[in-house]
Amino acid sequence: MTHPMIEMRSIQKAFGSNEVLRDVDLAIDKGTSMVIIGGSGTGKSVMLKTILGLIPQDAGKIVVDGKDATAGDHDAFLARFGMLFQGGALFDSLPVWQNVAFRLLRGSLKRPRDEAREVAIEKLRRVGLKADVADRLPAELSGGMQKRVGLARAIAAEPEIIFFDEPTTGLDPIMAGVINDLIREIVVEMGATAMTITHDMTSVRAIADNVAMLHGGKIRWTGPVSTLDTSGDPYVEQFISGSAEGPIEAVR
Ligand SMILES: Nc1ncnc2c1ncn2[C@@H]1O[C@H](COP(=O)(O)OP(=O)(O)OP(=O)(O)O)[C@@H](O)[C@H]1O
Ligand SMILES: [Mg+2]
Repeated sequence: MTHPMIEMRSIQKAFGSNEVLRDVDLAIDKGTSMVIIGGSGTGKSVMLKTILGLIPQDAGKIVVDGKDATAGDHDAFLARFGMLFQGGALFDSLPVWQNVAFRLLRGSLKRPRDEAREVAIEKLRRVGLKADVADRLPAELSGGMQKRVGLARAIAAEPEIIFFDEPTTGLDPIMAGVINDLIREIVVEMGATAMTITHDMTSVRAIADNVAMLHGGKIRWTGPVSTLDTSGDPYVEQFISGSAEGPIEAVR
């Protein structure tokens, strides 16, 4: 019997009276790439943070690789994940290479310093950055370069599961294409399981095996990316066409 790598079962999460996740069910198979779409503020980032246990759910269960995510050691659990946060979340006071190699410099994944630095430079190269950025501070880089540093950090420890929250936002179309291809390669080459949140329909088509749309606190539609254009769901249709007309209210 195979089980999904990630399962969200009837997940609910409210912040005060703001019921963000009402009843979210989602399964992501091992070695596949799931893309989450949905309007701004619908709870996509919250979904991702509940899987990681960074935001505790009010009800429901998260199962990762067949085990309850809240069982066992949380640090060991997190070591299986690579993560690109929406805001980048780099450490301002650490040079770029130490940001990338962050997890290789401490804890259970610790390696000798010069080896960690070499891995960092190799990962920077993979995301299109030259070795000379390694010793600079994040503040000295452009927003798009910082995004790529965040991506290099997410893949540095070659995790089994990778989460990307808006990986191409703020990048020019060419670099966005490079990052999309890279995410696809990571899934194929490393056999990683990926979950990506994006508003960028070009990214969706480049990255996804499967797509899920979050709306109204639930997964409104999910299916293979090849069926996205024939979903028959008016919410999905409106989202992918970017139309102001349709069931999704443009002003919330
Ligand atoms: N820590 C928090 N405390 C209180 N409310 C929160 C918290 N995190 C998120 N929210 C609320 O949850 C809702 C969903 O936020 P979330 O960041 O998941 O949206 P999103 O779908 O990722 O949007 P975007 O596409 O703009 O990134 C918002 O109303 C937000 O204000
Ligand atoms: Mg978000």
